[in-house]
Parts: sequence; C-alpha cells; structure tokens
Amino acid sequence: MKILHEVSLRLKREGLSADLMRVNLEAMGISPEDIVEEEGKDYRKISVFYPLAAAARRFVRGVRGMKLKGVGISVRCHRKTDWESQWKKGWKPFALTRRLYVIPLFLTGVTCPRGKMPLYLDTTSAFGTGLHETTRFSAGLIEGLKDSFESFLDVGTGTGILSVVALRSGARYTEAFDIDTGAVTAARRNLKANGLRCDVLRVCDMGHYVAQRAFRLVAANLITHDLVAFRRKIVACVAPGGHLIISGISLKNMPLVKKEYNMSAGLKCLKIVKGKEWAAFLFARQV
Ligand SMILES: C[S@@+](CC[C@H](N)C(=O)[O-])C[C@H]1O[C@@H](n2cnc3c(N)ncnc32)[C@H](O)[C@@H]1O
Repeated sequence: MKILHEVSLRLKREGLSADLMRVNLEAMGISPEDIVEEEGKDYRKISVFYPLAAAARRFVRGVRGMKLKGVGISVRCHRKTDWESQWKKGWKPFALTRRLYVIPLFLTGVTCPRGKMPLYLDTTSAFGTGLHETTRFSAGLIEGLKDSFESFLDVGTGTGILSVVALRSGARYTEAFDIDTGAVTAARRNLKANGLRCDVLRVCDMGHYVAQRAFRLVAANLITHDLVAFRRKIVACVAPGGHLIISGISLKNMPLVKKEYNMSAGLKCLKIVKGKEWAAFLFARQV
C-alpha cells in the first residue's frame, strides 16, 4: 500500500498572503507544480505532498524555522490501495475528439495516429479519463469552438482534461478549479505532461468561487443538483458574446436543467448533445 504525506499550511485571510507563502516555498526549492492551493471562506490552505515521511518532516522543520505568524501546520497520511494498478489493466489509447487522441501516461511507446494530436493523461486519480460521455461531449463542444475563445474557465476540472482540450483549441488564458485536492494535483501533472499550464489552477468549491473576470468559454461538468444550485454563478462567469457548456446531465434530468437555464436572461441554447445516458448543452450568452 502506497502512502502519501500531505503537509498543509493554513493561512488566515488577514494574515500572510498565499502568494507570499508560495514565494517562500519556491525559495525552499519546492516546485510550483507540487504546491496545491485551497480557498475556503475565511482561510487559504497550501499543501505539499511527499511519498516519504522523512521529507515531510524536513519540510515541516523548514517552515517552522521561518517563524511565520498565523500559519497552522498539519500533516495527514493518505493511503492508496492498489486499485490504481488494477484499473490500468485493459486501458487502450482512444480518440477523444476529431483532433485529440488520449494516451494514458502509464502506456509508453504508443504513437499517435496520423492527423491526431496526443493528449497525455494520468487517468488514475481523478474523474475525467475521456471515456465517460459527459467528458467526451464537453471536449467535442470545446473543440467545435476552436479559435473562437481566448479565455476559458473549467469548473470541476477533475484530471484537467477539458483545460487541455481548451488550450489545444486556442485558449490563451485558462482558469481551472476543483473541490478535490487530489483532482487539482492530477490536473497539474496532466497539464505539465502536455507541456501546458493553466494561469490559475486551485482547489475551490463553486459555492465559494468569486470570479475576478468573465470568460469567453465556461465549461461545467457537474451533477445536476450543482448545475441547478450554482446556475446564476456559472452563467455570471460567461462574458457577453461568450459560450457556456454544461454537462453531467442524465437524460431524465434534461427537462429540469433546460427549464432552469432557460430562466437565465440572455442565454440561448445552441446545441444539445445526447448519448445513451447523458446529455450536454451548449449555450451562447447574448451581447
Ligand atoms: C464529473 S467530474 C468532471 C471532471 C472533468 N471536468 C471532466 O469533464 O471529465 C466533476 C468534477 O467536479 C468536481 N466538483 C464537484 N463539486 C464541485 C464544486 N462544488 N466545486 C468545484 N468542483 C466540484 C469533482 O471533484 C469532479 O472532479
């Protein structure tokens, strides 16, 4: 059984800023790729993960040595069973969209078919392998808008797969977040594996998300309950003239979601993609 040691630094809102803490950590030699940030109502949490307990202890000593005020330090052990390696059995690369071909990172020596672009993915630790209809529909809709959006917001990024698709489809500014720390770590790795990065990638609950800007394209692949509960917040993130993709809607929930989103003034449904069990919607926000 594998063990991962998570060292968390909890910062009060009024205390040391998370940005400054990041600078301190990078000065200690920690790669930005290994730092995971979480934003709560009245705190920020910064976590660093270590496979070895000794390395985690060394890091804790280093942070204590800085004598920072208002910073709480905690260490947690995550146990990983071998389900990951079980799951890898039977995995084959596949075409996610017309252009993109998913190659799991654990498969080496796989070549991409001619005319396709590889999308490398560590599919073991978060939702978003590309095999699920909800992801596939979202990816196809993003690619269908290729080169028409320069900014992208990925709500509930999972493995980061939709951010990769958006960046490969012309996005120049990308923000992604997920409520789950493991998902953000996986997304960070996956972006790196594809030679890409999000401008902002962090742990955050849509319920607490405060948009600093509007985006030309927003994608939210969430459960119906959350799509409905967060409708106003999600729609508010879309720039006038921009597009919104919502996915994760089971066929039986389609009428409810349609009715809810039709209530948003200025939102026009352009397309519905329906599969065996799931559906995704594409909306345009009028100028
Ligand atoms: C269905 S998965 C989608 C993953 C990926 N975007 C895709 O399309 O395959 C939903 C993701 O949203 C995250 N999530 C669920 N509730 C959330 C919330 N309230 N705020 C942010 N992320 C949330 C989950 O942790 C999960 O990674």
